Amino acid sequence: TALDTVVVALDGPSGSGKSSTARGVARALGLRYLDTGAQFRAVTQWMLDHDVAVEDPDAVAARAGEPLVESGEDPEDPTITVDGVDVSQAIRGADVTGAVSAVSAVGAVREQLLELQRRIIGRGGIVVEGRDIGSVVAPGAAVKVYLTADTAARAERRAAENGGGSIDDTAAGLLRRDSVDSGRESAPLVAAEGAVHIDTTSFTLDEVVAQVVDLVRAAVD
Ligand code: DC
Repeated sequence: TALDTVVVALDGPSGSGKSSTARGVARALGLRYLDTGAQFRAVTQWMLDHDVAVEDPDAVAARAGEPLVESGEDPEDPTITVDGVDVSQAIRGADVTGAVSAVSAVGAVREQLLELQRRIIGRGGIVVEGRDIGSVVAPGAAVKVYLTADTAARAERRAAENGGGSIDDTAAGLLRRDSVDSGRESAPLVAAEGAVHIDTTSFTLDEVVAQVVDLVRAAVD
């Protein structure tokens, strides 16, 4: 594998530091970046905007083929649009965060996005973050990393990102989403075979980025 064709799969639960790590690694190595969680969030935003009953899997499946998602690949500016509308900010709001686990558990949604994700990954040169990248989307990835962190550390990071708020409530929300994401039938959150586990609890972001960069350098010629 050469650097310009490498695929780096970064999986893990919410708040494990995936997004910051993935962007940092892409920036450090000059690779493209794909946030698959943002794609599920964009589809969820579209479903909410079109008054689809997001808790009804059949209702979501019936319209899964409609939203047109386009992902930016620049780690400095990962904008995402759905039907041409920039939803980069909106998808971080509470409405989408509360509904995204239900929408992303629908097989028809996953099939649509899987095709899109594989098309974007293409010949590689990309860092891809999600829940099922090393296991399903890119099982042949040369580098697979599974990030974890203590629940308390994850909740503190998320609460800080969301401009404060209760750590306990944030932790409860994280655990609820973890259990839906891990328990679903279709492509659950799982550590891929061969993935290197990194517990980020007691490392700084720079330290985690450096560890993953080292793994990538070791994997390429
Ligand atoms: O990483 P995130 O919090 O933005 O992800 C949002 C949701 O999308 C998360 O609850 C699980 C789902 N997701 C998924 O099912 N598969 C992926 N590859 C990425 C995210």
